[in-house]
Amino acid sequence: MTGSDTNPLRDPQDRRLPRIAGPSGLVIFGVTGDLSRKKLMPAVYDLANRGLLPPGFSLVGFARRDWEDEDFAQVVHDSVKEHARTPFREEVWQQLSEGFRFVQGDFDDDEAFERLRTTVDDLDKARGTGGNFAFYLSVPPKFFPLVVQQLKAHHLAEPAGDSWRRAVIEKPFGHDLKSAEELNRIVHEVFEPDQVFRIDHYLGKETVQNILALRFANTMFEPIWNRSYVDHVQITMAEDIGIGGRAGYYDGIGAARDVIQNHLLQLLALTAMEEPTAFDAQALVAEKTKALESVRLPEDLGRHTVRAQYTAGWQGGVKVRGYLEEDGIDPHSGTDTYAAIKLEIDNRRWAGVPFYLRAGKRLGRRVTEIAVVFQRAPHLPFDTTDTMELGQNALVIRVQPDEGITVRFGSKVPGTSMEVRDVTMDFAYGESFTESSPEAYERLLLDVLLGDANLFPRPQEVELSWKILDPIEEHWARHGKPESYTAGTWGPKAADEMLARDGRSWRRP
Ligand code: BG6
Repeated sequence: MTGSDTNPLRDPQDRRLPRIAGPSGLVIFGVTGDLSRKKLMPAVYDLANRGLLPPGFSLVGFARRDWEDEDFAQVVHDSVKEHARTPFREEVWQQLSEGFRFVQGDFDDDEAFERLRTTVDDLDKARGTGGNFAFYLSVPPKFFPLVVQQLKAHHLAEPAGDSWRRAVIEKPFGHDLKSAEELNRIVHEVFEPDQVFRIDHYLGKETVQNILALRFANTMFEPIWNRSYVDHVQITMAEDIGIGGRAGYYDGIGAARDVIQNHLLQLLALTAMEEPTAFDAQALVAEKTKALESVRLPEDLGRHTVRAQYTAGWQGGVKVRGYLEEDGIDPHSGTDTYAAIKLEIDNRRWAGVPFYLRAGKRLGRRVTEIAVVFQRAPHLPFDTTDTMELGQNALVIRVQPDEGITVRFGSKVPGTSMEVRDVTMDFAYGESFTESSPEAYERLLLDVLLGDANLFPRPQEVELSWKILDPIEEHWARHGKPESYTAGTWGPKAADEMLARDGRSWRRP
């Protein structure tokens, strides 16, 4: 018998068994939108295809379009064909599509919400959904209050008996701290905190969850994961795309609100936090919250933050427009499409270690990574000429694409002299595992149906993140126009200067 077999604390349930959702259904508001078509519908199909949905699973679309159930089914079909991760299988599709319903109406249409209630009740009878429904608000935040009030007014929010009702909310969770608090208040007037699932799809990414595995399932990293060894941390979210057809959403929001407030600060929290007492929602939020609470902004925001806008340039051999020339953008817009900020974390582990965060559209290439850059060796017994090409050790968590981890260190160059040069050691998901990674939305939708809240930010995290960002946005609003950078490059000169002043430079991934 092995040691673990005798462990009295061992959970008798084998965790390797697939987590399959029980009887349930999903209602999507905003079902005609991009997110629904590109991510949600394909994720539902992929879950069904993997056998992770119950046989009677039902999907209800709610929108203004004058559609019948069949039209809705056709739209889901097309979206699955185009965007699903797993192969199309007719028998899976047949069974799944029997549970599709469409409810036509406006958000202020009481009759439509009554029809929704009847639809949900009918599905319970016809498909055994057991009264368990999640309501996905894939709608602009200005509609949140109305939709949640309607759910309450038509008795859709409260579960009967031991069934459940859940609300799933997409970002943006507000525009600043004040609006986020207001949004949380409105949602919690109708739903209990444990009924609400806020989506930050980065937390559904395998590589992001792997930050916890890397740190807390191993012994070799944690001893050096602190100010004694780490020089600084760089968190990069670079995208090659522009704003495409999202002008309406993006203009006035910008890179910092769009992705730093949520995705990048969540990555920071997972990288910086202490070990949670368990892998459960409460323990995780406790540690992430502590990390976010310890974040300190630089005193001189002018020197340690940069925002910029892309101008016309070349990307992948194609000439692309500048931000101000994009369709639907105010030609005088001051919205940032690039943002870089320096943060410090005031605690024993990280005091004095800067965390540099940057995010941008139309950058050199699409890459998201967390680079933990270590201090230089305190002394090199080799000739300086032989170590000229030696950089700093680094551990890079490659969130996407090309998911994996890279460790960079110095190694002797073969030959008769003691020349030392940087080399890398790579772990690639694609090579080490045969299973391909599920899409973030697959994981998160399944977790909603299972009621597993581990990978969903809680309201206090959302509010703390706004507390960090608000002074920066206010500073930018007071100080004129953003810098500019040419599309297809790695961002504005000012961002390079920001790091150069600290004697450092951005990685060119
Ligand atoms: C979204 C942002 O949250 O994340 C988009 O609103 C961005 O602007 C997207 O393009 C990027 O997601 P991913 O998973 O492709 O990195």
